[in-house]
Amino acid sequence: MSAGEPIRVAVAGAAGRMGQAVCHAVAQAPDISLAGTADPALGSDLDAVLPGADVLVDFTAPDAVLGNVERALAAGVHVVAGTTGFDLAELERICARQAGASRANVVAAPNFAIGAVLMMRYAADAARHMAKAEIVELHHDRKLDAPSGTAARTAELMRQAASRAGRARSGGRQDARGTDAPAPPIHSVRLPGLVAHQEVILGDLGQTLTIRHDTTSREAFMPGVLLAVRRVAYIERSPLLGLEQLLD
Ligand SMILES: NC(=O)c1ccc[n+]([C@@H]2O[C@H](COP(=O)([O-])OP(=O)(O)OC[C@H]3O[C@@H](n4cnc5c(N)ncnc54)[C@H](O)[C@@H]3O)[C@@H](O)[C@H]2O)c1
Repeated sequence: MSAGEPIRVAVAGAAGRMGQAVCHAVAQAPDISLAGTADPALGSDLDAVLPGADVLVDFTAPDAVLGNVERALAAGVHVVAGTTGFDLAELERICARQAGASRANVVAAPNFAIGAVLMMRYAADAARHMAKAEIVELHHDRKLDAPSGTAARTAELMRQAASRAGRARSGGRQDARGTDAPAPPIHSVRLPGLVAHQEVILGDLGQTLTIRHDTTSREAFMPGVLLAVRRVAYIERSPLLGLEQLLD
């Protein structure tokens, strides 16, 4: 990437719902240009578009994303991965293996919508104070993975926050039962008519608290995707997981 030049973006999964929205958003951004599209549905292969790209944006499928990341890193191309439902530990291993050979970075986030990031933040805070919680995530019926990556990430952030609060209350030891807090259970709903929605319901004596986020259009994800495209070259640790890491 050269200063003053547009960032050249290749989109993997360009024929899909998210890929099309990314191509449209890139076309509107004055500092970013579309270097190419890769999708079996378009008959275009990733290796043909990587040489002209600075950043690969991947919205494909759980069984495709890691192979695409490996190919991009090997070609020295940064990756912004929005695909969900893959093994994050394997992504860490790929980045560690490539670290010596490639200076390219990876940002991966299960949800690029700012409202969803705030929902996760508020849910983690609430988990420190309320006794129990459950997560209900609702998506369109063509979503391949369940539970959603956002719900899994929310549950993990809530588990960590509740465990830290428990340890703080017991003077640095684990909580009274001798265990870390459990992750909240997740319920997945798949129905036509939905886009992406999540409710975190917390309960305690005599009260409940509900935190809900609704995505009504895929445009919601685009500012976060473009922010990651602009920042991926400059992150200090790769992979960087979660859009919240890029927000001030
Ligand atoms: N991070 C976020 O904010 C966010 C938001 C919405 C969806 N998602 C995730 O993004 C992914 C894509 O969602 P979608 O609704 O666009 O799916 P989709 O099925 O509409 O599109 C996926 C596209 O990827 C293509 N594809 C499959 N394998 C490929 C490969 N090896 N290389 C290039 N292209 C390939 C398919 O042909 C298809 O066109 C899913 O994992 C979904 O959960 C993430």
